[in-house]
Amino acid sequence: MKIEAQAALVTGGASGLGEATARELARLGAKVAVLDRNLERARQVAAEIGGTAYACDITDTASVEAALDAAAAAHGPARILMNVAGIGSAKRIVGKDGQAAPLEDFARVIHVNLLGTYNISRLFAARCAKLDPLDGGERGVMVFTASVAAFDGQVGQQAYSASKGGLVGMTLPMARDLAQHGIRVCTVAPGIFATPLLLELPEPVQQSLAASIPFPPRLGKPSEFAELACHIVTNGHLNGEVIRLDGALRMAPR
Ligand SMILES: NC(=O)c1ccc[n+]([C@@H]2O[C@H](COP(=O)([O-])OP(=O)(O)OC[C@H]3O[C@@H](n4cnc5c(N)ncnc54)[C@H](O)[C@@H]3O)[C@@H](O)[C@H]2O)c1
Repeated sequence: MKIEAQAALVTGGASGLGEATARELARLGAKVAVLDRNLERARQVAAEIGGTAYACDITDTASVEAALDAAAAAHGPARILMNVAGIGSAKRIVGKDGQAAPLEDFARVIHVNLLGTYNISRLFAARCAKLDPLDGGERGVMVFTASVAAFDGQVGQQAYSASKGGLVGMTLPMARDLAQHGIRVCTVAPGIFATPLLLELPEPVQQSLAASIPFPPRLGKPSEFAELACHIVTNGHLNGEVIRLDGALRMAPR
């Protein structure tokens, strides 16, 4: 699908990989709606790229419906959904104090990363399926953001890895479900990227993370994630696939 002039939605577009994706979509001529829990920051990004911003919690159906309605009123119905919103977590299943990890912590991460992504995707897909097909029968494209932790999760990453593994697992069945509607679904599994959280780490920690990447031995650039996410949109034969974007990194246990 050509990105130019299409309406696109970016969850988590207020920061990091989502922000870079919103910027790249705008650079390629899309009408971009930045959907994020952080409305203030979403507005700043949107203002800089000539897009619009909406407060949206992907886990809350009413909030998602309201954001989809408002974005459609501003830009017309969206055919592109970039699912980038997500949260991290680090908690051992048995803590140093011998206590079991609280179930709520695990549930919170699954709730945002897996259920939230599924929630907005199902609502987007239902709308997209009603649109007229473009050339070749295509109606829309969705991208999920997993992580290499879906495959090689580290100590303390059970919840995060399970949530991202869930996205990996639903990629193919969702692509199969939506094939009849001409909607493609792909997932990007990033390695270690230079987003605000990582850039806050002490310089030696950043350097050691970078050195763990076979090649290139540096943190991924958010723009590299954004380029791949946009390539998935333009390459009509990419579907049902999970693509690692990690410089051949395989995470160690800790
Ligand atoms: N940065 C990395 O190295 C890296 C590596 C692998 C995967 N990822 C994944 O990439 C995605 C983006 O990561 P990032 O580093 O850019 O993070 P970030 O914290 O910079 O940005 C995430 C954005 O998502 C928003 N968000 C969180 N929960 C939300 C919700 N319920 N509804 C709407 N918006 C919500 C936040 O407000 C924030 O703006 C995440 O899914 C993360 O798991 C990041």
